[in-house]
Amino acid sequence: MNMLDLNPDQLLTTTRAVRKRLDFGRPVPDDVVRECVSVALQSPSGSNNPTMHYVVVRDAAKRRAIGDIYRFCFTQYQSMDGTYLRTIDKGSDDANRVQQRSADSADFLADHMGDAPVLVLACTNGRMDNVPGIVAASLAGNIVPAMWSFMLAARARGLGTCWTTLHLMMEEQTADVVGIPFETVQQVCLSPLAYTLGTDFKVAARPEPDSIIHWDSW
Ligand SMILES: Cc1cc2nc3c(=O)[nH]c(=O)nc-3n(C[C@H](O)[C@H](O)[C@H](O)COP(=O)(O)O)c2cc1C
Repeated sequence: MNMLDLNPDQLLTTTRAVRKRLDFGRPVPDDVVRECVSVALQSPSGSNNPTMHYVVVRDAAKRRAIGDIYRFCFTQYQSMDGTYLRTIDKGSDDANRVQQRSADSADFLADHMGDAPVLVLACTNGRMDNVPGIVAASLAGNIVPAMWSFMLAARARGLGTCWTTLHLMMEEQTADVVGIPFETVQQVCLSPLAYTLGTDFKVAARPEPDSIIHWDSW
């Protein structure tokens, strides 16, 4: 197992959404995926009963089909003013420059999702459509921390990921590509998985903690 020399905080603060620096030409061994899933399985699960699933897509035709779905959904997203990240004003020239770079990166991934050597669909048993908040929160909680652990484990091994959800506009069509039982299984995230071009990633600018902490009351 080849691990980068990162302490826990370095790992947590430099696991970025990787898009332009995915190495599309380098294969990802199945055992590396297994290791990341094994780490993910250590995350919390409701009632100590993991309901997570990872659909790991290596097949080129299936990756292409999912990539086409993602590109189509992304095109819809690009027309959503105020939602498409390029159209969000971050309040300063510096922050807006970073935002435009993020948008360039997201546009790039939309054109190349299917080129990643592996696509990972993170799923959980149970659907979130029209369910009470407690159910939605519990279902999401059974996969979201786990998938983030998967991404951290990937970064620790020199691989990049990117949390994406836009394909969920066409979740059922995506399910059909790989045979996910759509009626009973919810997808929450589609991520490319590839070795990164270089392994140095920076800490991102973020708001001050006190801007979002509510001490003792909201
Ligand atoms: C719920 C969620 C949905 C996201 N959906 C997409 C997406 O569909 N496409 C994409 O390129 N990035 C997506 N992202 C990645 C964000 O754009 C990215 O995390 C953000 O720009 C910050 O960049 P960083 O993670 O490198 O700090 C998503 C992230 C989250 C948490």
